[in-house]
Amino acid sequence: MVATAVTVNRAVAEGMDAADPLRGLRRLFFRADPQLIYLDGNSLGPLPAATRDYLDDVMLDGWGAGLVRSWETWIDWSRRLGDRIAAHALGAAPGEVALSDSTSVNLYKLAAAALDAAPGRRTILADADDFPTNRYILQGLADQRGLTLIPLRSDPSLGLGLDTLRDALGSDVALVVLSLVSYRSGALLDMAEVNAAAARAGALVLWDLSHAAGVIPVRLNASRADLAVGATYKYLNGGPGSPAFLYVRGELQHQLRQPIWGWFGQRDQFQMGERYSPRDDIDRFLAGTPPLLSMAALGPALDVLEQAPVTELRDKSVRLTELAVRLADEWLMPRGFRLASPRDPARRGSHVSLAHPQASLLSRALRSRMNVVCDFRAPDLLRIGTTPLYTSFTDVWDGLDRLRRLVDDRGHENLPEATSRVT
Ligand SMILES: Cc1ncc(COP(=O)(O)O)c(C=O)c1O
Repeated sequence: MVATAVTVNRAVAEGMDAADPLRGLRRLFFRADPQLIYLDGNSLGPLPAATRDYLDDVMLDGWGAGLVRSWETWIDWSRRLGDRIAAHALGAAPGEVALSDSTSVNLYKLAAAALDAAPGRRTILADADDFPTNRYILQGLADQRGLTLIPLRSDPSLGLGLDTLRDALGSDVALVVLSLVSYRSGALLDMAEVNAAAARAGALVLWDLSHAAGVIPVRLNASRADLAVGATYKYLNGGPGSPAFLYVRGELQHQLRQPIWGWFGQRDQFQMGERYSPRDDIDRFLAGTPPLLSMAALGPALDVLEQAPVTELRDKSVRLTELAVRLADEWLMPRGFRLASPRDPARRGSHVSLAHPQASLLSRALRSRMNVVCDFRAPDLLRIGTTPLYTSFTDVWDGLDRLRRLVDDRGHENLPEATSRVT
């Protein structure tokens, strides 16, 4: 047992909850187990309470009664929902965001379109520590086209340094692909600075906003962002596998052609014309029929999100992660943990990563023995995710308190063999 002076007692966290202007939003989510501490909204956001009835209506009235006639209404949902996400979460204009496919597929489509638009340039820059799907897709594109992919070395805890990027930007760079918030460390980049540096070098930037949309006030238009993609099942709470968003700056849209020439991108789609001729708007980046029921779930999720300006969500998110860092300093650092996220909240997204040699076991034991869900990322990270729409300050306090007790009781040392493929 490690003796440490606790200066933030639970009453302090309770006081922060009582003073939290967003505390009422928590009850808009379904809670099966009130004792569960859920600190993994950065992986999968929770179920908004209204989603179930709404999906029932879409199924029964739309699919059941309306049958194929309902496509008259459904056909615009990708854009309508895209416009809502653009306005509330992304700082983009109507007609610049659409929902389609997965983040992986959208990243492929937009990266390929950007590369095709710069045939004289043969280099792609990406963060060597970016989420695997992004790295793999770029490896594939570079291999298939004989291009050079340069992985930029970033600090595992602090993220990519702007100087590293600036040094690599040259006249041969066609495309830069970066996550605004790192899935590992939570490190947050300066979007405007990156866009400006890339624009000076004549390169396009494709952002992955999966860990930013809904918690960071993203300003795509104000920072003159070119392209972006992102998941909707994390902080946007669209549910497992909900379709991803893609953004293309208005004036770039007609210059870019994506590689999947499907009928949802086709001008006069129902004319069933002989040759592919893409639309002039954001729909040209669509491919095929969207997963309608999954897309529908974003409606009630956005109803919840729109109740709080993202600046307020950010404000609370900073205070939640500050509390997590402070408690980690007091309780966990003396027990062998290390902060693997930026200490400066201005440089951090909405999760905090803690490195520990037994992080995998700790994550499993937290779930099975302490009723706390966070997650593990290889090789040694525990990610503590806070979602300001529903995470309370007492959740953070209780979650880290249970972690501290788990370590003291060695509750992670005699776990049964892992059986799940998922961490
Ligand atoms: C940064 C980032 N990009 C992409 C993805 C995955 O995208 P997809 O929805 O295609 O699986 C994730 C998944 O967690 C992610 O964290």
